[in-house]
Amino acid sequence: MAASNLTNFAGQVVLVTGAASGIGKAAAELIAQRGGKVICLDLNEDGLKITVAQIEQAGGSAGYKVLDVSSQSGVKKVVAEILAEHGQVHALANSAGISGPTGKPVEEVEWAAFQKTIEINLYGTIWLTQELMPSMKEHKYGRIVHLASIAGKEGNPGMSAYNASKAAVIGFVKGVAKECATFGITINAVAPAVIRTPINETVAPDVQAYMVSKIPVGRLGEPNEVAEIIAFAASQACSFTTGFTFDVSGGRATY
Ligand SMILES: NC(=O)c1ccc[n+]([C@@H]2O[C@H](COP(=O)([O-])OP(=O)(O)OC[C@H]3O[C@@H](n4cnc5c(N)ncnc54)[C@H](O)[C@@H]3O)[C@@H](O)[C@H]2O)c1
Repeated sequence: MAASNLTNFAGQVVLVTGAASGIGKAAAELIAQRGGKVICLDLNEDGLKITVAQIEQAGGSAGYKVLDVSSQSGVKKVVAEILAEHGQVHALANSAGISGPTGKPVEEVEWAAFQKTIEINLYGTIWLTQELMPSMKEHKYGRIVHLASIAGKEGNPGMSAYNASKAAVIGFVKGVAKECATFGITINAVAPAVIRTPINETVAPDVQAYMVSKIPVGRLGEPNEVAEIIAFAASQACSFTTGFTFDVSGGRATY
């Protein structure tokens, strides 16, 4: 029997946002290792250069563009450029995100900080999907993976903006999945619990302790453990699962 190669990305162009750090960086590296041409997108150009250099050193293929996902015109411009340069985008792994204000009850959160969290975590998700969908429909193929969070399923106290943004991502993929289900396109989310990345440096210590105490496996997750799920959901292998939120929570969420 021939071996399955549905998790291989040979000949595919994959966009990875948040690729300068943490989960996005791990996903970009794994997808490149599996043969994809990875276009790394992030605000942080220094980090992007390091990710691309590391992928190339390992024999993979990568490029980068600086993108602020909370700018709708920026998303439109960068996606249009990539489609013009490469003709087709096979998959998007959208890992750009911020924790936003933490450790504060909702009534004390400054609106500007709340709004910024929604703009990056939710509007970025929507705009990237809107810009890629027409081309994916035309090609009758696409894989979209957005980073949600356990916070969007259960809610972490002191993180109202983040919880709201991630719950919205989970709802967003459920409905869009039904719109594009007959076009060869799947769109899913991934909901990690606490993962060892720089995003947690900005999370208040008591909030972090609360989150780790909720994980039955009893430790933080590692970025490569999330990257494995992202790579599956971004691959041809993920052809009959759509609108779903994959759990990566060390047993915290068993639904
Ligand atoms: N680490 C965790 O514990 C955890 C848990 C659940 C969900 N998540 C989600 O996973 C995703 C990745 O998080 P991470 O842990 O790798 O964090 P990280 O801070 O290591 O990486 C996030 C990346 O997003 C980039 N970014 C931030 N704002 C951006 C913007 N406006 N435009 C473009 N890029 C931007 C940052 O520069 C950074 O490179 C996020 O969506 C996060 O909410 C993380």
